[in-house]
Amino acid sequence: MRISMIGTGYVGLVSGTCFSEFGVEVICVDKDAAKIDRLNQGEIPIFEPGLDALVTSNVAAGRLSFTTDLAAAVARSDAVFIAVGTPSRRGDGHADLTYVYDAAREIAAAMNGYTVVVTKSTVPVGTGRAVERIIRETRPDADFDMVSNPEFLREGSAINDFMRPDRVVIGTESERAQQVMRQLYRVLYLIETPILFTSLETSELTKYAANTFLATKITFINEIADLCEHVGADVHDVARGIGLDGRIGRKFLHPGPGYGGSCFPKDTLALVTTARDTGSPLRIVETVVDINARRKRAMADKIIAACEGSVAGKTIAILGLTFKPNTDDMRDSPSLDIVPALLEAGATVRAFDPEGMDEARALLPDITYCDDAYEAMTGADALVVLTEWNAFRALNLARVKEALNAPVMIDLRNVYTPADMAAAGFRYTSVGRPTPSAA
Ligand code: UDX
Repeated sequence: MRISMIGTGYVGLVSGTCFSEFGVEVICVDKDAAKIDRLNQGEIPIFEPGLDALVTSNVAAGRLSFTTDLAAAVARSDAVFIAVGTPSRRGDGHADLTYVYDAAREIAAAMNGYTVVVTKSTVPVGTGRAVERIIRETRPDADFDMVSNPEFLREGSAINDFMRPDRVVIGTESERAQQVMRQLYRVLYLIETPILFTSLETSELTKYAANTFLATKITFINEIADLCEHVGADVHDVARGIGLDGRIGRKFLHPGPGYGGSCFPKDTLALVTTARDTGSPLRIVETVVDINARRKRAMADKIIAACEGSVAGKTIAILGLTFKPNTDDMRDSPSLDIVPALLEAGATVRAFDPEGMDEARALLPDITYCDDAYEAMTGADALVVLTEWNAFRALNLARVKEALNAPVMIDLRNVYTPADMAAAGFRYTSVGRPTPSAA
């Protein structure tokens, strides 16, 4: 089996590398010659734990290669995966499918013999059929089948998510294409992974429904957290109390500053827009999108309130800028709303992030970037934990207290416990938990 993976962004690179680990021969294709050069020199353009080693070993085994030559790769492939970007289109929230359709035309022109064409990028319902039409128009004689095979990878644990998924969803009506896909995922049958065969449209919608449901679950617990603060309850006990009910489930009930990243914000917005356009609006999701956007901004107010109502002329130390730990991804990170709001309120901001600072510099140019957590907090009037990197879970609290001007910590990820922080003499604010007074 040989496949081409078009697009070496996050999804394409991880999926291509993992398929090669499954024993498939994979050719990763990208238009960006500099990126392909770097990959050919063994340089990985993104930070993802374990990816580096997996790329190196599969390249050495001769199963994984990188090229800009789409036509040559496609002509030699049994299946071609489209894993190009689908950003939110400016203005209307729809997914921008330009790159997907461009890829479809190029694939059509290059196909040689029976080929399975798979959309791996998250694409709105109906895109698979549109790609099918484009390929037919470009190459009326083409022998191919269309498949939707969405990814459910989390940044930071993408390799494990690909190798040991909860399920694989494959949308196609073609028996022949199903056989090819079964062959590609052969390894997963051995570990009894459920593999669901559906129609193209059902598969496309399943991806959006999954991400939207998870975003809703997070938003629900975030609102419960706010309510907890008003009634003196502890959101973690509530989350555990409801999550142990198998119908609800324990995961994705951790409160925080609002969801971010490359998927949830974009996918919730795209689904809301599609649903509205079809005349079957998703009012719950519309509300989720609105609440999450407001929440990110409200977190700046929470920080200001913890600083006795004003940050004007004060220095705020921020630990963590990426939308979650173990990634360098800044896309839709809560920090992009919170930091500008603090600057606008007159604060000076010093920040440290273990992997995200290169990306952050262009997006948040008006802050001071520090070499480590303690440097960031030295002389600051308050410390904010914004992303739950492991390094920030194990701070030396005595040293933190010494470095800060005032022992004020705002923990937006609840990595510390209120009782411990009070005992250590901090004025501590977290999300959805009673705040004891400092010792
Ligand atoms: C997500 C989906 O999990 C994945 O299946 C999909 O393919 C891509 O989108 P990712 O964006 O990498 O993955 O991160 P995830 O771990 O799901 O977190 C998304 C956001 O939700 C982050 O901002 C995170 O901080 C937040 N989150 C997650 C919470 O606030 N609370 C939680 O309990 C879980």
